[in-house]
Amino acid sequence: MKEILLLILLIAFIFSCKNTSNSKVFIGDEPAVKTHLIQSDIEEGNISIEDVIKHGESLFTARFNSLDGFGRPLSSGDRTRRKNKKIFPENFNRISGPESQACSDCHNMPIVGGGGSNVTNVFSSAEKSPFLDFDTESIDKDIKISEVGNERNTTGMFGSGLVELLAREMTKDLIAQRATAEALAIKESRDVRILLSTKGVDFGFLTARPNGTIDTSEIEGVDRDLIIKPFTQKGVVISLRVFTNNAMNHHHGMQSSERFLDKEDVHKAMDVLSDMNDYDGDGVENELSSGDITAVTLFQATLKIPVRILPESDEEKKAVKNGDALFKDIGCNSCHVESLPLKSLNFTDPSPFNPKNHLSPDDTAGISVDLGKFFPNLERDSNGNYLVPLFSDLRRHSMGENLNNEKVKQLSSRGKIDTDQWMTRKLWGFASEPPFLHHGRATLISEAILMHGGDAEESRVRYQQLSAYDKASIVEYLNTFQIPKEE
Ligand code: HEC
Ligand code: HEC
Repeated sequence: MKEILLLILLIAFIFSCKNTSNSKVFIGDEPAVKTHLIQSDIEEGNISIEDVIKHGESLFTARFNSLDGFGRPLSSGDRTRRKNKKIFPENFNRISGPESQACSDCHNMPIVGGGGSNVTNVFSSAEKSPFLDFDTESIDKDIKISEVGNERNTTGMFGSGLVELLAREMTKDLIAQRATAEALAIKESRDVRILLSTKGVDFGFLTARPNGTIDTSEIEGVDRDLIIKPFTQKGVVISLRVFTNNAMNHHHGMQSSERFLDKEDVHKAMDVLSDMNDYDGDGVENELSSGDITAVTLFQATLKIPVRILPESDEEKKAVKNGDALFKDIGCNSCHVESLPLKSLNFTDPSPFNPKNHLSPDDTAGISVDLGKFFPNLERDSNGNYLVPLFSDLRRHSMGENLNNEKVKQLSSRGKIDTDQWMTRKLWGFASEPPFLHHGRATLISEAILMHGGDAEESRVRYQQLSAYDKASIVEYLNTFQIPKEE
């Protein structure tokens, strides 16, 4: 009898430990994160999606400290190893990072998950450098910050689950178009030149040759691999998961096992928080599990979508209506496309397009979440597609000299991107996240519009030619693109 009771207690104990691996009591200094999720528990449904998202939120807002593994004494922000160990009190660095303790240190305007003020700007690409303190003998005294990193303002991720799904569907379309052209070129022994186009957005031309090669020189607005990367203002990151893995290391020195273990060890690391990984040499092993990264991914993917908030007075409402019509009339909507149609709201994670050095469907079955439960009110078109009102075509454009201030060419999956190229900024919710533009230099919406050039030259000129009232109407209209402040 006693044995049975003990067995029941033991089973109950094991069960209570199953979802969380290291709950313990701390006296004195304690880590910010006390529990880590196990990927297989999420995949097997042992934890509800709501609880996974809650855990994701707690990690997004957790202020990581040394006991969690904050800092990366031996690792640069892009996973290369550095020679000199940077330990307390040299564990922070404003330029190359780690520069902050929480995602929400930057992503907090107007609420957690949003953009950030100029004090949260990041020196993008500088994370690849060793600590850039400009005092060290080894660093060239004449070097300028602009030569090591591009200053970027923090953007929000409301509605980002839908954005990622749109990008995946667009990528599938483009890759299918390439395959069709390839097959035809071989079958008919001739060059086949096709227009790449998906969801009404054109991406230039591609020519398939009968010998199986492809001429990619006329592709526009997307990398030559045709994978739409909807995140960052340059459009270089495929998925929220990839972003999360990299941001955790870059900004906080928190390494996820899936990104920092050799691939063969990832499977082990998914199921157990083992003791095999202290890549950054800070004495803390396995700082984030794959379950944790799934949680942060899902938290972001299910954040609410931005709304339109109309002003109170009839006079202002009239201006909004006028601005709405003018926005289309002068061609702003040729890039800031009002909405893109999405076939399915089924968010699977990991993304099928994740590169091999992040968790991918080759590693695990993953999960699938119906975003329809989170966003029940999306409008649909006559074909049953969900209309995602993001006001972007998810394509890069040349934006002219005024927005061509950066010196470091950013890398994407296929080479470096020209510095005047920017992905059309999603405008949903943007008015709640000033300042504006990639560097956050515009404190007014009108200033942001006036900086447009290149492919947007014509519509900017047309904006400038409008009457003062019409110009103000466009701003009044854009001001309705908000993120509701209440949680
Ligand atoms: C020091 C400030 C800072 C911190 C901390 C930070 N971010 Fe960011 N985040 C940025 C900036 C700046 C951008 C814009 C980058 C760009 O466009 O090149 C950005 C962009 C993003 C985006 C892309 C949004 C989009 O629609 O393009 C995601 C996703 C993201 N961050 C996730 C995270 C996560 C997850 C964390 C925590 C692990 C985090 N960030 C921590 C500053 C920060
Ligand atoms: C050729 C494509 C294109 C056209 C046309 C275009 N835009 Fe943009 N827009 C962009 C890109 C790309 C950005 C991001 C630029 C940057 O940050 O450097 C942007 C940024 C913006 C921003 C700043 C948003 C933020 O959160 O920082 C506003 C506002 C804006 N556009 C409004 C307009 C208006 C109004 C028009 C019409 C007069 C217009 N755009 C026409 C591509 C375009």
